[in-house]
Amino acid sequence: MNCCSPNGLDEMFNESAARKDLKSYRKKGLDRRARRLVDFLSQQDISEATLLEIGGGVGALHLELMKAGAAKAVGVDASSAYVKAATSLAQSMGYGDAVEYHVGDFAEREQDIPGADIVLLDRVICCYPDMKALVTASGRHAQRFCALTYPRRTWPIRAGVSFINVVMAVFRRRFRIFVHHPREVTATLASMGFSRVFEAYAGFGRMWEIAVYQRQ
Ligand SMILES: C[S@@+](CC[C@H](N)C(=O)[O-])C[C@H]1O[C@@H](n2cnc3c(N)ncnc32)[C@H](O)[C@@H]1O
Repeated sequence: MNCCSPNGLDEMFNESAARKDLKSYRKKGLDRRARRLVDFLSQQDISEATLLEIGGGVGALHLELMKAGAAKAVGVDASSAYVKAATSLAQSMGYGDAVEYHVGDFAEREQDIPGADIVLLDRVICCYPDMKALVTASGRHAQRFCALTYPRRTWPIRAGVSFINVVMAVFRRRFRIFVHHPREVTATLASMGFSRVFEAYAGFGRMWEIAVYQRQ
């Protein structure tokens, strides 16, 4: 695995993808999946909370949580184009001094990154082959909540993802999508002392599972 851009992430999440995501957030705001996370977390007394968003893309999720009262955010993304877009979005929303961004693979760089009250991974583990390493590193950094979204492991979703991965291979793209087992996500976090306190579904065919774990 390339140390700086595992799974072809920097190529997949490039400047054009970042521009598209920025435009969509500026026009329509958060999509329903991310909005469910913000709605749940903002009911949990997050005033002055610190955030760590892994694979945050343009940063919309943590910036919305800052609007809801969170104090500071650190973002780590393997895509340099997304980190650049997140930096400019945070500045344009007046949060430039309250955020800090790093480019890199969080599972490889976790020792450089401080812990936070809330760790967020929205549509991230499905872009990374080693779910256990990424979720374990995330859990180690989460002082209160670890919130994730990922595709449900149903037959139609697995078939669709296999098809997309074949297309990626045909076009010689390094990027692949992974449908990890939700039970293994829960087991990994449970072994670190977390319990699942919220779950919901969103997206076409309820394809995204939204899960929030709390440190007990
Ligand atoms: C599908 S995008 C999701 C972006 C954003 N969270 C959203 O939902 O709009 C996945 C993001 O996760 C990042 N990513 C995946 N694995 C990562 C890892 N191990 N460390 C850091 N970033 C990672 C990718 O670079 C990409 O920006």
